[in-house]
Amino acid sequence: SYAFKPRKSLVLIGLMGVGKTTVGRRLAHALKLQFRDADEEVEKAAGRSVSEIFEDFGEHAFRDGERKVIARLLEEPPMVLALGGGAFVDDETRERVKAMATSIWLQADVETLVQRVARRDTRPLLRDEDPETVLRTLLNKRQAAYAEADIHVDASGGSHQITLDSILQALE
Ligand code: S3P
Repeated sequence: SYAFKPRKSLVLIGLMGVGKTTVGRRLAHALKLQFRDADEEVEKAAGRSVSEIFEDFGEHAFRDGERKVIARLLEEPPMVLALGGGAFVDDETRERVKAMATSIWLQADVETLVQRVARRDTRPLLRDEDPETVLRTLLNKRQAAYAEADIHVDASGGSHQITLDSILQALE
């Protein structure tokens, strides 16, 4: 098995559809760490799905909840944490993650992301508009923030396994 034991949490960032949750679960398994997904934790705290939070309270309220949930998770023992695509764009969250964890940007071209997000996605930002246009716009707006991550990993390749191997290699 893999010997590396991180002293800090490993936080996966990047756009919707890049595979943060899938790769995160496998990374946690490989390192025998807990896995948590920030979207899921926000849903648990709110007792509502991400879409319902957007609908009932608006994106701003979702971002506030997301910021609090991530701050709480970062206080826990080292884990693998997948963030929602917008979380690391928040200045407070980005600074907190950079100070307390190892951040890993999963990068992929928009074509790959479009293939990976479902046509009828439950994600509120993709519901009413052309996914390619949305993802392209978000990437333009967000890539400077994402680029502040400690580790950049190419996740465009064929499989999540390749991405996982690249992360493990980068951590060595
Ligand atoms: C969002 C990404 C989603 C979720 C919310 C907003 C974003 O998470 O947090 O729908 O702003 O990119 P995933 O990246 O896990 O899909």
